[in-house]
Amino acid sequence: MSSPIDPTATSAWQKLSDIHSTLSGKSGLLRSWFAEDPQRAERFTVDAADLHVDLSKNLLTNDVRDALIELAREVGLEDRRDAMLRGEKINVTENRAVLHTALRREKGDEVLVDGENVVPGVHEVLDSMSAFATKVRSGEWVGVTGKKIETIINIGIGGSDLGPVMVYEALKPYKQEGLECRFISNIDPTDAATKTAGLNPETTLVIVASKTFTTLETMTNARLVRQWLLSTLKEQGALENASEADAVTKHFVAVSTALDKVAEFGINPDNAFGFWDWVGGRYSVDSAIGLSLMIAFGPERFYEFLSGFRAIDEHFASTPLEQNVPVLMGMLNVWYVNFYKAHSHAVLPYSQYLHRFPAYLQQLTMESNGKGVRFDGTPVTCDTGEIFWGEPGTNGQHAFYQLIHQGTRLIPSDFIAFATPAHPLTDGETDVHALFLSNFFAQTAALAFGKTADEVRAEGTPEEIVPARVFTGDRPTTSIMAQELSPRVLGELIALYEHITFVEGVVWGIDSFDQWGVELGKKLALQIAPAVMGDSAALESQDSSTAALVTWYLSQRR
Ligand code: F6P
Repeated sequence: MSSPIDPTATSAWQKLSDIHSTLSGKSGLLRSWFAEDPQRAERFTVDAADLHVDLSKNLLTNDVRDALIELAREVGLEDRRDAMLRGEKINVTENRAVLHTALRREKGDEVLVDGENVVPGVHEVLDSMSAFATKVRSGEWVGVTGKKIETIINIGIGGSDLGPVMVYEALKPYKQEGLECRFISNIDPTDAATKTAGLNPETTLVIVASKTFTTLETMTNARLVRQWLLSTLKEQGALENASEADAVTKHFVAVSTALDKVAEFGINPDNAFGFWDWVGGRYSVDSAIGLSLMIAFGPERFYEFLSGFRAIDEHFASTPLEQNVPVLMGMLNVWYVNFYKAHSHAVLPYSQYLHRFPAYLQQLTMESNGKGVRFDGTPVTCDTGEIFWGEPGTNGQHAFYQLIHQGTRLIPSDFIAFATPAHPLTDGETDVHALFLSNFFAQTAALAFGKTADEVRAEGTPEEIVPARVFTGDRPTTSIMAQELSPRVLGELIALYEHITFVEGVVWGIDSFDQWGVELGKKLALQIAPAVMGDSAALESQDSSTAALVTWYLSQRR
């Protein structure tokens, strides 16, 4: 593996720095750019599959775009992209290929890892997921007392939870009547207790989803739920004619790359759905990790979901960089992070169904690009990573938009909306979705064009409060629209952000596919646990702050 190219040493970086110097300190840029160029919106709007993406309200000119694309070329983005898609081991610190894109390749395609085509294996697993999901949906798969399944509990954390939860919430209108999913992730016992409360174990199917099948939270929750299931079945007299092992076989299935560990837990290996070490946890929602989704929405919808990912993969792989949406969006993020010193990035879906999308993106983007060393172990040469956050509009408008409109920091924001409402309600004569989207359109215009002091004065505002009512504008936004929030479009949106994340990582020269930063805390938690459980020698070996906190906890716990 070659060394990363230092982006700051490229000629494009110098150009961007010069352009940034000429732009900084100027106001009303977007107003004047739109006034000078009536074609601006059209020029900077690009479609990718079903996504209609307007970049024109960004701090973007032809020169900026050209320099960003030049930078992408200078750091070898196309080569790195092709290496990833070919199955090269670009995750160097884990010596792994990075092939979430293989999960959505069509039957008959070829992607080689260590000389072996992985696509047939992908479809074998999809076929067995489909067969299983169909049995559960039709009622052919029954619990230990012969009752059909009504509730699926997915136990997983991180990538084994965030994707399934987000997609389940996003595609609720497609869910089969009479089937419900619940998700247990946190090791806070409240999660398992509240999610199993009121459930009938006879009609509950548990999916233990863990790439490694060793994650503390997931394995603890899996044991807690197994305990709940068996003891409740016993209380109900449901285990009179069946053994505990039968009950586990009928009510527990697993998704993992570690099928040996699945068997150790007592889950029948026939009911285990595999995936591979070349799928990162945060890139795994379209693998068997999506089993709960396939059950809830059906195999057909799941294949539509995969087709959306594939459409964006194809766009990313073959569209010239100048028209390539993930490339343009990723490079714009680099522009804001490295030249405007933006620290965070808001994602604002104008769709209640996407309420978990920002949380999902937090793992995808921040676990991927929150790195301080490059893939060859040398320090990064510029800022990396963005803090992704957001809430659905319009709720966010009444909470934190004040900071985006008038705060001192630049917060690039992605606005996402759909033309067709899932629930076309009217309030008297008023179409409520039209009213909702009026807010979407208004916010990006307000952020871009602001309101000058003269405009504020013209409204008769007393002079002393004029400054407080001025909006500077030039606050960059990208508007992403699609016809409706379908399984396919959701797949497209996820793949879009996967590739944006990749593009940024390539510029910064980092390995976007490892996550060593989560390890230390995990190890320390295991080391501290004996102290928290009352072992005085373990307590004494802690630093004084930690020891005092543990002591206080022990003294207060009831
Ligand atoms: O701790 C981080 C992490 O490894 C994530 O990358 C991953 O998605 C999550 O934990 C869960 O891991 P697993 O699927 O192996 O249980």
